Amino acid sequence: MKQYVDFAMECAVEAGEFVIKKSGRMDSVSFKSYRSDLVTEMDKKCEALIKKNIKKKYPSHSILAEESGKSDRKTDFRWIIDPIDGTTNFVQGFPMFAVSIALEYKNRSVVGVIYDPNTKELFHASEGKGAYLNGRRISVSEKSGLGNALLSSGYTYSYGKAWKKDMKLFIDMVEHCRSVRCLGTAAIEIAYVACGRLDGFWEASLCPWDFAAGVVLVREAGGKVSGFDGKELKNRMGDVIITNGRIHKEMMKVINN
Ligand code: IPD
Ligand code: CA
Ligand code: CA
Repeated sequence: MKQYVDFAMECAVEAGEFVIKKSGRMDSVSFKSYRSDLVTEMDKKCEALIKKNIKKKYPSHSILAEESGKSDRKTDFRWIIDPIDGTTNFVQGFPMFAVSIALEYKNRSVVGVIYDPNTKELFHASEGKGAYLNGRRISVSEKSGLGNALLSSGYTYSYGKAWKKDMKLFIDMVEHCRSVRCLGTAAIEIAYVACGRLDGFWEASLCPWDFAAGVVLVREAGGKVSGFDGKELKNRMGDVIITNGRIHKEMMKVINN
């Protein structure tokens, strides 16, 4: 496992340092489907850089990457990449976005790396080996009781029924916890749960590249990860709850009421 995590860290730092120079200075922004679902030339270039590295080092592995979609499943190993998580922040020069790289083995994330080039914070974890921030072991917060918890969340890009439901849930959650942040980058929000800066995170209809790396960090840091229904989280689009473990049931209760 060590060779994979070392490789993923190298790739994430290289890609993060590549994109940081362009933050807030993008000329070519396009919209995927909604006015807030942005993609830049830099998302594509950064993704191509990571894919090139993977293909060179592990030519037989499959890759699922946000901007270029899925490649066929050739082996039990699949890399899941979000080249820039937090594109809206990136475009604006708001210094909060990250490169997220996960390695899945037999449908389960086993390596997770998240690199924030603004703070130079490198999070990494591999199954059974713990979670780390810049080489220092991290763990989730010890907070119990949702009333004391600082949470974070994001919401869907479509402004229809699903969005209204998300907003209603947002209000319900605010009523039950200390406060809710919206950082605009699920990868960093999940990494922050792993190191105890946040106590919990939830988001509906999240894509696998948004959480595939983060879930390894949180599991290895002693936290809990599941769908809104409490079931195991698979690397496909879904509703996610990620917590320090102690507030998980309470969050599920609010979500499912
Ligand atoms: C988005 C961010 C955001 C979350 C969205 C994601 P992107 O990823 O993680 O925080 O609320 O659901 O799509 O588009 O910036 O890679
Ligand atoms: Ca993303
Ligand atoms: Ca992205």
